Amino acid sequence: MLSADQRRRWRRYWDRQSRGYDRQMGFFDRVLFADTRQWVCAQARGQVLEVGIGTGLNLEHYRDDVALIGIDLSPAMLTIARQRAEELNTAVELRVGDAEALEFADASFDTVVCTFSLCAIPDDRRAVAEMVRILRPGGALLLADHVAAAHPLVRAGQWIAELVSVPLGGEHFRRRPIELVRAAGLRIEGHDRFAAGIVERISARVPAAQPRDRVRAGTAPPGSAGGVAGRGGDVRRAAGRDPGLPRSGR
Ligand SMILES: C[S@@+](CC[C@H](N)C(=O)[O-])C[C@H]1O[C@@H](n2cnc3c(N)ncnc32)[C@H](O)[C@@H]1O
Repeated sequence: MLSADQRRRWRRYWDRQSRGYDRQMGFFDRVLFADTRQWVCAQARGQVLEVGIGTGLNLEHYRDDVALIGIDLSPAMLTIARQRAEELNTAVELRVGDAEALEFADASFDTVVCTFSLCAIPDDRRAVAEMVRILRPGGALLLADHVAAAHPLVRAGQWIAELVSVPLGGEHFRRRPIELVRAAGLRIEGHDRFAAGIVERISARVPAAQPRDRVRAGTAPPGSAGGVAGRGGDVRRAAGRDPGLPRSGR
């Protein structure tokens, strides 16, 4: 888990990135990521948490009837997300939060979304375990990111790039979230990898009987995704609305 010093450091880093973020990400959305934001958001249902929501570039792609909360480490990124939500007249609750220690109760969301943030979250394994913890049985985990390329030569280039990008910006190019998702016991329902295997998107579902249920019963292996304890706070109260209600004004 992030120490207070690390949290401050990465918060400052992303606060600084926030001003140029939309322009920079807009370029990658156009040339590399294709319709990934639409692909992910169209599958989100019910009570939705977006982890590392950034400036809210996904907001326009959600269905009207989801109840959405977004968390991010960076207040400056969230300020831009808030402006975007106002411009779009979209209902979303935005909070500062850490993906590695989500402030929500176990099994409190129908969907968790995370796009292009697992590459930047220091402990991606812990973040995925947290996402799984807060999903209800049958809930959906929707991920998209740039990942380790399929071709070894491209992967070698990514390894070289990481020598600079990891210490300077915490940016990883060779992660494979799908392996963490499989290890957590979720069922992969949709999977797509393109652009030389650099971009990967995943739609996975928590089985009806979750590993964490076995943890409560004392039968799960130590260190499994179910081993992360809840930190309280009912999401229905947090969202301030019923998940069945349509979002306002759209
Ligand atoms: C590359 S941006 C992606 C933003 C957005 N998801 C998108 O699709 O455009 C990475 C985001 O992850 C956030 N982030 C990094 N570490 C985090 C953490 N531990 N908890 C929450 N957010 C984090 C950053 O503040 C930043 O907004």
